[in-house]
Amino acid sequence: MNKSSTILVTGGAGYIGSHTVVLLIEAGYNVLIFDNFSNASKESIKRVEKIVGKSIPVVEGDIRNREDLKKVFENHTIDSVIHFAGLKAVGESVEKPLKYYDNNVTGTVTLCEVMSEYGCKSIVFSSSATVYGDPHTTPIKEDFPLSATNPYGRSKLFIEEILRDLYISDNTWKVILLRYFNPVGAHGSGTIGEDPNGIPNNLMPYITQTAVGKLSCLGVFGDDYDTHDGTGVRDYIHVVDLANGHLKAIEKIDGINEVLTVNLGTGKGYSVLDMVKAFEKASGKEVPYCIAPRRAGDIAKCYADPSYAKEVLSWEATKGIDEMCQDSWRWQEANPKGYAQ
Ligand code: NAD
Ligand code: UD1
Repeated sequence: MNKSSTILVTGGAGYIGSHTVVLLIEAGYNVLIFDNFSNASKESIKRVEKIVGKSIPVVEGDIRNREDLKKVFENHTIDSVIHFAGLKAVGESVEKPLKYYDNNVTGTVTLCEVMSEYGCKSIVFSSSATVYGDPHTTPIKEDFPLSATNPYGRSKLFIEEILRDLYISDNTWKVILLRYFNPVGAHGSGTIGEDPNGIPNNLMPYITQTAVGKLSCLGVFGDDYDTHDGTGVRDYIHVVDLANGHLKAIEKIDGINEVLTVNLGTGKGYSVLDMVKAFEKASGKEVPYCIAPRRAGDIAKCYADPSYAKEVLSWEATKGIDEMCQDSWRWQEANPKGYAQ
C-alpha cells in the first residue's frame, strides 16, 4: 500500500485498534474507523484525534450488518481492511458460544462478502497465539500444530481457515494473519490504553487496577507450573510494537503471493511474578498478591519465535518489560476509571 491509501479499521475504537489508528495516521494513511462500540468508548476516538491533531471519520456499525458495511464501501474507496472487530473474553465464549461464532465468524464472512462485492480484496486479520492450544514446546513457530480449547480460540481458528479457503478460491486476495501474543502497555502519552469492562480477566489490567486501589489483591493462578518460579510464563508485547506490526503488514501486503501467517511477539517469556516485580519497580506501588488455584484452561508456557516476522515483515519488538509496565501505569494512574471520567 502506498501512504495515501485508505485503510478501513474495523474495531478501531478498541484497545489495539486505537493504537494502530494513531500510527497509521502518523504514517500518512487515510483511516476510516468502523465499530459498533460494544466494547469501546467514543472517548477513545476523541483521545486519538487529540494525539494525531485531526478528526477521524468514524462509522458506527456492525460487521454482521451488510447494509452498515455497504454504506462504507459505497461512500469510500477502501484499499485495505485491518480487521480487529471481535469479541475476546474467553470465559464468556464458553458460556455463550453462539454469540462468539455469530459475532466473530459470521461477522468476518459478511465483511469479506461486502469487500468482495466492492472489489476490495486486501485484509489483515487479528488472530491470536491461542490457536496453538497447549504447545508441545517453546518458542512457538508458525508451523506448530493448531488447536483450540474454547469457542473464542475456535472462532480465530475458523476465521484463519475461512480466509485461507477464500485465497484458494481466488488468489487475487491478499491476506495476512497476525497471531498476537499478550498485548500490554499503552500509548506513551498516557491518554489511550486498555479499559476492560468489569473485573479484568487478563493479568496486566488486574495488576494496574490493584495498584491504583480499585482491586484489593491479585490472585496468582497457580505456582506449581513447570516454569522458573512455578507461575505461568507468557510473551508480553507492548501494544505500540504490536500496532507497528500492522503498519509493516500494510506496507508489505500488495507484494505477497500467499496467505502470510505471522507471530507478533517478543520471543521473551516472563512469569506472573516477574510481571508483578517489574510493575512494582516501574510504578513504585506495591501489588499485593496471593497464590490461588490454577485457572481452568491455562497453560504453563507460551512465547513466540518472532524470527519469521523479522524475515517477512522487517518487524521486531523494540520495547521491553520496563517500558510496558511504565506505560501501563501512566495510563492507569491518569485514568483510574478508564475512559469513563
Ligand atoms: P477490544 O475489545 O478492545 O477491541 C475490539 C473492538 O471491536 C471494540 O472496539 C468493539 O467495540 C469492536 N467490535 C466487536 N464486535 C463488533 C462488531 N460485530 N461490529 C463492529 N465492531 C465490533 O479488543 P482488542 O484487545 O483491541 O482486540 C482486537 C482484536 O485482536 C480482537 O479481534 C481480539 O480477538 C484480537 N486479539 C486480542 C488480544 C488481546 O489480548 N487483547 C490477543 C490476541 C488477539
Ligand atoms: C488470555 C486468553 C487467551 C488470549 C490471551 C491474549 C484465557 C484463558 N486465555 O491468555 O485466549 O489469547 O489472553 O489476550 O483467558 N493470571 C493470574 N491472575 C490473574 C490473571 C492472569 O495469575 O488475575 C495469569 C494467568 O494464569 C497466566 C498469565 O497471568 O499465566 C497471563 O494471563 P492472561 O493475561 O489472562 O493471558 P493468557 O492466559 O495468556
